[in-house]
Amino acid sequence: MDADEIEALEIELLLEGLARRHGYDFRRYTPAHLRRQIRSVLLQERLKTVSQLQDRLLHHPEWLPRFVARLSIGVTGMFRDPYFYRRIREEVVPLLRTYPFVRIWVAGCSTGEEAYSLAIVLAEEGLLGRARLYGTDLSDVVLARARRGVVPLTSMRAYTEAYQAAGGGEDFSRYYVADHRNARLVAELRESVVFFQHNLVSDDVFNEFQLVLCRNVMIYFERPLRDRVHDLLHRSLVPFGVLGLGMRESIDFTPLASEYGPLAPRARLYRRRS
Ligand SMILES: C[S@@+](CC[C@H](N)C(=O)[O-])C[C@H]1O[C@@H](n2cnc3c(N)ncnc32)[C@H](O)[C@@H]1O
Repeated sequence: MDADEIEALEIELLLEGLARRHGYDFRRYTPAHLRRQIRSVLLQERLKTVSQLQDRLLHHPEWLPRFVARLSIGVTGMFRDPYFYRRIREEVVPLLRTYPFVRIWVAGCSTGEEAYSLAIVLAEEGLLGRARLYGTDLSDVVLARARRGVVPLTSMRAYTEAYQAAGGGEDFSRYYVADHRNARLVAELRESVVFFQHNLVSDDVFNEFQLVLCRNVMIYFERPLRDRVHDLLHRSLVPFGVLGLGMRESIDFTPLASEYGPLAPRARLYRRRS
């Protein structure tokens, strides 16, 4: 066995240990993603082998939240893919208006920027008052940040541009209060989203939604796990509810493709056929 093969074996054992010891099951994530993230954890923690990491995680559970956060942390941002939010405003908002009350689920919400962007669109369209947003993620660490609603001030320029490109016409600074380092989103936005832990690998449907976003999460999953999550998302939508995926994802070639019609396919927005 060469060094890479030994590392692959160690990763397999680590994942088995995590699932059995802590109930976190990463076994159906793509090997390339796992290897990349685990190697970066080893570097940061100054550990030499995956086996040392395994020792730490099995015997010192206090390390677990940090490890899960490292494994799951991902890029996000406000109005990421402005075109997507433009289509939300133009295609999805008119559908949401037809309901007396709207529930929205942002699955794999990371530090919350996606959910808050949606809340801004709903506020501007006069819908936020009768909407409830749920942001869920695997990692408690990112959720704690999401709840605080704090964004580095250095990101605000890019977010303002993305907001404008997404069709936003207000002065973006009305949505946050800045100090010298951070921008804190205003209470109206923070209070519109409920953040809590939900694991797409092992947890089930927890409510019914008119709109579900699950963007840039399943790209880390192998096919059987992706299929499981699609089934969960489908069962979480009301009839004719809308599903939004990431720009590099698609409903095509999934077992549920025929259950959805295109709403704005270039923006990866699909609508349940019934
Ligand atoms: C790349 S980020 C995407 C964030 C956001 N949806 C976006 O597109 O900007 C992927 C997120 O998926 C979360 N995630 C990964 N596995 C998950 C799981 N099994 N259940 C719930 N969330 C998960 C990660 O913690 C991370 O926050």
